[in-house]
Amino acid sequence: MAYGWEGDKVRLVPIDMDRHLENYLVWLNDPEVTQWLLIGDFPLSRLAEREWIERAEHGSQTEIHFAIETLDGLHIGTSGIHDISWRHGIAQTGTVIGAKELWGKGLGTDATRVRARYAFEVMGLRLLTSSVIDGNERSLRMQQAAGYEVVGRIPGRYWKRGAFRDEILTCLTRDRWMSLQS
Ligand SMILES: CC(C)(COP(=O)(O)OP(=O)(O)OC[C@H]1O[C@@H](n2cnc3c(N)ncnc32)[C@H](O)[C@@H]1OP(=O)(O)O)[C@@H](O)C(=O)NCCC(=O)NCCS
Repeated sequence: MAYGWEGDKVRLVPIDMDRHLENYLVWLNDPEVTQWLLIGDFPLSRLAEREWIERAEHGSQTEIHFAIETLDGLHIGTSGIHDISWRHGIAQTGTVIGAKELWGKGLGTDATRVRARYAFEVMGLRLLTSSVIDGNERSLRMQQAAGYEVVGRIPGRYWKRGAFRDEILTCLTRDRWMSLQS
């Protein structure tokens, strides 16, 4: 029986040790997947990943993590709502489609749209922020396709794979998201 938050192509489901651990270990130790991520430059051990999943399974007031699955149940990635501030109605978001053979097929955009619907309708948030390291065109295009707008740039913010690179700041307001629904 399928469960979770459903889009046109994917479903956001609770992270499950038995179902998702192996894929996360493979993806987050794959330099191609982590090319533009702030994680992935140091070896990720099974123990560390088990601990991370255990925390995700227990849940938190400030962090929500979903696994992303296709509608037929294939695990393809992960989707997060981080640094939740209930007082301000804001949170930070991030997406990884680890199944790189499926990049560019609209799965990340659909997952980002489902997460926005969840954040605004279910959680009652009013603003989602995100960012990409300059050069991560696929992620920027995905976010923009889901309604996020570029709102700033921090020069040379991160050391990543041989250079200090800009961070491009993006956000999606509930008002903009609602206007895109009609
Ligand atoms: C970034 C990521 C989540 C995007 O997921 P995805 O399923 O590939 O995204 P989508 O197919 O929905 O959208 C990708 C967009 O990039 C475009 N695109 C595809 N290949 C591209 C490429 N090589 N260069 C630039 N843009 C590209 C697509 O055309 C699409 O844009 P469009 O809707 O304007 O046509 C996924 O590639 C990924 O997980 N990468 C590794 C981890 C990562 O970088 N995560 C984001 C951190 S900020």
